[in-house]
Amino acid sequence: MSTSDIKLFAVFGNPVTHSLSPLMHQAAYDRMKLNARYIPFCVKDIGKAVDGIRGLNIQGVSVTLPFKTEVMNFLDEVEEDARKIGAVNTIQNIQGRLIGYNTDWIGFVLSLKESLKIRGKQFAVLGAGGAARGIVYGLLKEGGHPIILNRTFSKAEALGKEFGCPFLPFSEKERIKSDCLINTTSLGMSPDKGKSPFPEKLLKNFPWVVDIIYNPLKTKLLKEAEEAGCRTMSGLGMFVHQGAEQIKIWTGQEPPRAYMKKVVLTKLNRQAPPGA
Ligand code: ATR
Repeated sequence: MSTSDIKLFAVFGNPVTHSLSPLMHQAAYDRMKLNARYIPFCVKDIGKAVDGIRGLNIQGVSVTLPFKTEVMNFLDEVEEDARKIGAVNTIQNIQGRLIGYNTDWIGFVLSLKESLKIRGKQFAVLGAGGAARGIVYGLLKEGGHPIILNRTFSKAEALGKEFGCPFLPFSEKERIKSDCLINTTSLGMSPDKGKSPFPEKLLKNFPWVVDIIYNPLKTKLLKEAEEAGCRTMSGLGMFVHQGAEQIKIWTGQEPPRAYMKKVVLTKLNRQAPPGA
């Protein structure tokens, strides 16, 4: 069998060793009975890697850290949401023409909507980096009201002004009471599991606490939030939905989302048994 018989998909990142995208995507293609392979590439030069998409006739590529912004310079077209967010996590190859999309914000919105109505609700967003941009964009698009809090105030201010939403210095966090607190920073992510981005004693100000981290599934923030009586949500749903939206773009077919979630959950639980 040669690659001309197989649909090729890939993830570009650096590092990519710990990415669960290959496991999740391959499981979906196998379940969908598509003759497809999804390959992780640890990329040294993103411009040359993008040339490789055309050269190797790769049908679709997931883009992850640290290339989500830089990659935009090498594409033929960037769809409107991705352009406004300033990040591309998905490339579609249509006969050598490369189009960039962002499915992170859609993944977040779909996951949140499974538990919580967004329209009209207040959301305290922790962080003002690349991930926060997609989250704030999604919340606004769905009629939510985000307020941005960040360690570096100038970044919260810049993001708030760009998207037209309020922002506060982190030192004024005691003042915030909203429907939901969302962590978009990497604080608490494996292997830095012992840290939380928000003081435990203030968590009672939020009925819902959401972390976009999915490894570990229960971050220190979410553990403390549970203890404070908040309802909680991990980043697993967002991860599954952003990947599923990629598959939909590339194949035109609806992927088996519940099955994808089960596969990732099984892997995460094997890495760290529940309660660990
Ligand atoms: P990403 O694409 O994952 O959002 P990023 O663009 O580098 O990555 O943004 C990281 C975010 O996490 C920023 O909001 C950052 O705060 P600063 O703007 O103050 O740097 C936040 N962050 C990272 N480490 C942090 C820490 N130890 N404490 C508080 N916030 C932190």
